Amino acid sequence: MAKQSSLKERHERVYRALMEANQEHLLRWFDELDHTRQAHLLDELESLSWQTLATLVKTHVLGRPHVEIPVSLEPADVYPHQPTDDLRDRYEEARRLGRELIAAGKVAAFTVAGGQGTRLGFDGPKGQVEVTPVGNKSLFWIFAETIKAVRERYGVPIPWYIMTSPANHRQTLDYLQANDFFGLPEAEVSLFSQAMLPAFDGQGRALLAEKYRLALAPDGHGGSLKALVASGALRDMQKRGIEIISYFQVDNPLVKPFDPLFVGLHVTTGSEMSSKVSPKVDDLEKVGNMCKGDGKVMVIEYSDLPDELAHARNADGTRKFNAGSLAIHMLDVSFIQRIVGDTFELPYRRAEKKVPFVDDHGLSVEPESSNAVKLEMFVFDALPLAENPLVLEVDRAEEFSPVKNATGVDSLESSMRDQNSRACRWLEAAGVNVPRKPDGEPDVIVTIAPSFATDAEDVKPKSSLVPALKSGDRIVLE
Ligand code: UTP
Repeated sequence: MAKQSSLKERHERVYRALMEANQEHLLRWFDELDHTRQAHLLDELESLSWQTLATLVKTHVLGRPHVEIPVSLEPADVYPHQPTDDLRDRYEEARRLGRELIAAGKVAAFTVAGGQGTRLGFDGPKGQVEVTPVGNKSLFWIFAETIKAVRERYGVPIPWYIMTSPANHRQTLDYLQANDFFGLPEAEVSLFSQAMLPAFDGQGRALLAEKYRLALAPDGHGGSLKALVASGALRDMQKRGIEIISYFQVDNPLVKPFDPLFVGLHVTTGSEMSSKVSPKVDDLEKVGNMCKGDGKVMVIEYSDLPDELAHARNADGTRKFNAGSLAIHMLDVSFIQRIVGDTFELPYRRAEKKVPFVDDHGLSVEPESSNAVKLEMFVFDALPLAENPLVLEVDRAEEFSPVKNATGVDSLESSMRDQNSRACRWLEAAGVNVPRKPDGEPDVIVTIAPSFATDAEDVKPKSSLVPALKSGDRIVLE
C-alpha cells in the first residue's frame, strides 16, 4: 500500500511537470501498467528536465535552430601534412615530444561508440562490425590491437575508454568480455554510457517506444564531454596521470590514435583541443568545414556553409574552405575539467530519424521514413571554447575511411577497399612486390594487423616476413 501511494505521489508530481511542458500524453497508459512498469516509466520521466526540454522543443523541434555564421568567416589556420622548410624542425621536435608523452603514459585512447548506426543498419554495436578486408576482424579488434601494439612498443599501460549508450552498453561489454578484451588487461578498459534524450514527433510530442518506456536516443557525440565527467572516467584519468585524450569515432578503422606528431603539436602549441582535417574532395562534400569566425576556430557543417563560401576560391584558384573535419581530436583532460560544470551544454542540433513508437491507439508503429526529431550535441562545438586549438592536415587515404552507410560512399565496401589500398601501399613502400590489376588496383587482399604494423615505417624491418604475393592472394599479416 505504501509503495502504491508513493507511486501515486510520484505520478502526480511528474504529471504536473509534464502538463507544463505539454507532454502529459506520456502518462496516458499509466493506469494499465503493472507496478514495475509504472515505476520504470516514472524513473525515466523523473530523470529528465521537462522545463529545459520544453524550450528545446520550441527552438529545435517546432522551430529550426538558427546557426549563426560569423560575418568574418575565414578558413582555419592549418598545419600542413608535409612540413614546409620553416616547420621541419618543429615537426621533428613535436614528434619527439609526442613519443615522450605517450611513453610517459600521459595519453589515453577514447572511442565514442554510443551512436545508433541507423544508416549502416547493423544489428548490434557498430564496433562489432567485421571490417577488415580479409580475416573478418571487427572495429573493436583493430582498436584493441592498436592499443596493445602501442602499449608494447612504449612499455606503458594505455587506458582505453569507450563511451556507449544505455541502448548498446550491455552488448558492447558482453562482446569485449567474450573476446577477453582482445588481450588487453581488463583494468585498462573502461566503458561508460552517455545520456539519452527523448525523440519527438513533428508536433513536439515526446514518443513512447512502449507504453511504459520513452523512445530515447543518445545525446550525440558531444554528450561525451559531460559523460566523461558524470561517469567518473575523467577522474579515473586524472588518477592514472592521463593528461591528453585521443578521441576517435568507432566507425573509422584507419584511425591512428597514437600519432606522435599530433600529440606533440597539440602540446607545443598550447592547444586544449586539436583536430585533424584533410582537403575536401569537392566544394559541397558532406563534411564539417574547419573555419575561423570572429577569431575562434569552429566547424561549420556542410549544410550550414553558405553556397558562395563553399564555392569560394583563393587568388591561385584553389578552394578557400578546403579543410574537412575528420572527427579525430586530442583533448586535454584539464580542458574538459575546466569547461564541464553542472549546467554545461554544447549547442543542440536537430536530426531527423526513423524512430519506432506507440501511437495514440496504443499500437506499435515501425515507420518507413523519418518521423521524429532527435537532439544531439556535436563534439566539435567545443572547439570555440578551447585555447589555441590546433588543426593538422593529414592524408585521408592514410587515416580516414569510416563505415557509415550500407552501400556506396563511406560504406563497408569502400572502407575495406581503402584499408586494402593502404596495406598494399605500406608493403610497397617497404619494398614488397604487390601484384596490381591493369587499372592499378591491388590484385591481392591484405589485412595488416596492428600487431604487425601501425604505420608504414613499421613494415620495412618486417618485410622479409611477408610471403611472396601472387595475384588473387588473400592474407592477414600479424
Ligand atoms: P554518427 O554521426 O555517424 O552517428 O556518429 P551514428 O549514430 O553512429 O550513425 P547514424 O547517423 O545513426 O547512421 C559518429 C560517431 O559518434 C558516435 C558514434 O558511435 C560514432 O562513433 N556517437 C554518435 C556517439 O557516441 N553518441 C551519439 O549520440 C552519436
